[in-house]
Amino acid sequence: MARQQLPLRALAARVIQSVTQGQSLSDALPPALRQAQEQDRSQLQALCYGTCRWYHRLDAELQTRLHKPLKKGDRIAVPLILQALFQLRHSHQAEHAVLNETVAACRSLGKPHLAGLVNAILRAAQRDGEPEPTTPAATFSHPQWLTEKLRHNWPDQWQAILDANNAQAPMTLRVNARQTTRDAYLAALDEAGIEASATRFAPHGIQLAEPCGVDRLPGFAEGRVSVQDEAAQLCTELLDLAPGQRVLDACAAPGGKTCAILEAQAEIKEVVALDQSAQRLERVRENLERLRLPATVSAGDAADLERWWDGEPFDRILLDVPCSASGVIRRHPDIKLLRREDDITPLAAIQMGLLERLWSTLKPGGKLVYATCSVFPQENHRIIQRFIKAHEDAVLTMPPVSWGQDTGAGRQLFPDAGSHDGFFYACLTRQDDHAANQASTS
Ligand SMILES: C[S@@+](CC[C@H](N)C(=O)[O-])C[C@H]1O[C@@H](n2cnc3c(N)ncnc32)[C@H](O)[C@@H]1O
Repeated sequence: MARQQLPLRALAARVIQSVTQGQSLSDALPPALRQAQEQDRSQLQALCYGTCRWYHRLDAELQTRLHKPLKKGDRIAVPLILQALFQLRHSHQAEHAVLNETVAACRSLGKPHLAGLVNAILRAAQRDGEPEPTTPAATFSHPQWLTEKLRHNWPDQWQAILDANNAQAPMTLRVNARQTTRDAYLAALDEAGIEASATRFAPHGIQLAEPCGVDRLPGFAEGRVSVQDEAAQLCTELLDLAPGQRVLDACAAPGGKTCAILEAQAEIKEVVALDQSAQRLERVRENLERLRLPATVSAGDAADLERWWDGEPFDRILLDVPCSASGVIRRHPDIKLLRREDDITPLAAIQMGLLERLWSTLKPGGKLVYATCSVFPQENHRIIQRFIKAHEDAVLTMPPVSWGQDTGAGRQLFPDAGSHDGFFYACLTRQDDHAANQASTS
């Protein structure tokens, strides 16, 4: 029997409800997109992303309008009303259409008895306008713990970080230096009628004035260009790549940085792209194939050396650890709903564990670049400070760069509304035994 097709707003409510129950947008949205009518798909995506982005603020408004708690079975009304409030507050949709469609969705969701309540709340919201937020969580539309943690960690930058998290991220490209140059690709974009400019810090980066489908990008299928944020592209500069090196990309999937490395240095001896997720490694393979780049793709827990390491040390290691992703909230607004304060300490333990284990696979004289897309010091410079203290042969060797803020143990990039994501990089060199001994006795 064919599944009954749910209208757009009912689908959006279901997706948002799944996110509040712990599912990511990237897992919850694709099945809903398949169920939606073709012409509704981009609006469904915008509704789900936008409602997650403004969830805390919209929910604070809803709580002021909801005079008694909903019964357990009726809680779908919350995401249903929130997606409508999102459009009333943040879009140019005709208000009467937003109201009528949302009230009609109660029936599609099998909750016709909620129509009166939904209608009354949305009419009041339309009539009264948006109330002044009364808490920082509502003002900045972030969970309270995240707002407080950022305020504590970055007393001068926290508000700018929160504002940047609420902005739409730009679409940024990395030109494949093995196939073309940035100037040539900018000219190709111009010819295709796509407005774009060179990124400020990443030498092969291009930022588009408006996002567009990759099928519109000249030569995308042939590997002339990839989609990658500017901050993520900066890893190649720190790795100090040279011909003949053996490079480990320890947490590689989906392979954005693996490919950036291979594009930046054509004469690398080998890049080992390791990840513990076999499923995510498929994306690495697809990217390598499209860009026509060679790598040794390997599945395994990077900390379990016996399982995957052949004993031949690496000249360079990129350790792009799993993290809170607090620097990329603008691209993944569901993080505001999914991440918990308690997640950070266990993540930091995993990050330190990976660093400890992989250090022994680095050649003396070799370099390790530690990276996160986090803005929490606990996952960033505090890890590096502790590691250096505990390892005599580890020396912080950050090259002079023009981006980010010096933390004393690596550079922190904050998300920037007009350009790059939030990221952290530290570059460590492993001294050979002789130099390490001398350092410890002097
Ligand atoms: C931040 S993402 C990496 C992004 C990737 N470097 C890129 O630029 O496309 C972190 C990755 O670490 C992987 N991961 C997590 N724990 C791991 C472990 N113990 N060993 C290997 N990979 C791990 C996850 O599967 C995830 O793909």
